[in-house]
Amino acid sequence: MAPRLEFYDRRPAPADFLAEVLEGLSGPQKRLPPKFFYDSRGSELFEAICATPEYYPARAEAGILRRYAPEIAAVAGHGGVLIEPGAGNLGKVRLLLECLRPAAYLPMDISGDHLGVAARGLAAEYPWLSVQAICMDYSRGLDRLDGLGGADLGEGGKKIVFFPGSTIGNFEPSKAARFLWQAARLAGPGGGLLIGVDLKKDPDRLHRAYNDAGGVTREFNLNLLFRINAELKADFDPERYYHYAFYHARKGRIEMHLVSRGAQEVRLASRRLKFADGESIHTENSYKYTVGEFEALARGAGFRAVKCWTDAESLFSVQYFEAVGQSVALE
Ligand code: AVJ
Repeated sequence: MAPRLEFYDRRPAPADFLAEVLEGLSGPQKRLPPKFFYDSRGSELFEAICATPEYYPARAEAGILRRYAPEIAAVAGHGGVLIEPGAGNLGKVRLLLECLRPAAYLPMDISGDHLGVAARGLAAEYPWLSVQAICMDYSRGLDRLDGLGGADLGEGGKKIVFFPGSTIGNFEPSKAARFLWQAARLAGPGGGLLIGVDLKKDPDRLHRAYNDAGGVTREFNLNLLFRINAELKADFDPERYYHYAFYHARKGRIEMHLVSRGAQEVRLASRRLKFADGESIHTENSYKYTVGEFEALARGAGFRAVKCWTDAESLFSVQYFEAVGQSVALE
């Protein structure tokens, strides 16, 4: 049987990259959105982070998915349409497919080449599965899927949004609520959300996870500057920035920054950007929740909490929600 595979290319234009970088670097606190980490080198480095001994989320979540796949399938049901924003290398869904047996799988990712290769591999491995890969920036709205996914999205079975990895932690809580609200609308009443959420814990443990001894997270953070140099006309000297990551307990988030060593000036397109000594580019937030905090957030976005699984140390959670009817517009 021929693998059923389609690829929809909605990758953002390079002009969007320049515009977003310029805008991010022009305010009083310079910032860059974490979605830009994931060029092909960045995607590789993220996979290397997941293999470091300090970065517990990837292993804890994989353990939960592997162990509880039958229970997950029992609440989510078979034959549905599984939609995964930010699907990366499609490693996590493999832990579910045999038990969940969806009719169709729609991985979305901003890194198109990476996604294309991974989708081909998956389709070959699971000949019974319809794979519809979508290269897009889902952070601009999960609801712009018109014309994508073909019949699977339009008239397929129950829709389940799969959002593992605690990627939700990258969003400010208000943006997370908006994303969840869009996910609820996409799933539709009775549809589901299966989401991985990293939990609040000992700050030391969190700190180590973002400051691995091998320096992989540092390299991941600095890769952003190499990428900007390569794709935009810029001359950052990555050696003159250092990786800085810390847990901000009151805000409940890890913050990552690239901090300027000394005062310097950088060329970017037709601009010159000034950095004071110690000035930072804020490159990522990674929010941590308690199970109760996250349930409250999802409830406010139109979901009902159905089930929550954690690892033995309660480091990480995988939570299943069901979308209920949405009566209020939040946008
Ligand atoms: C993929 C966004 C969940 O925030 O932990 C890992 C990315 N950054 N190490 C996270 C990341 C630094 C990761 N997420």
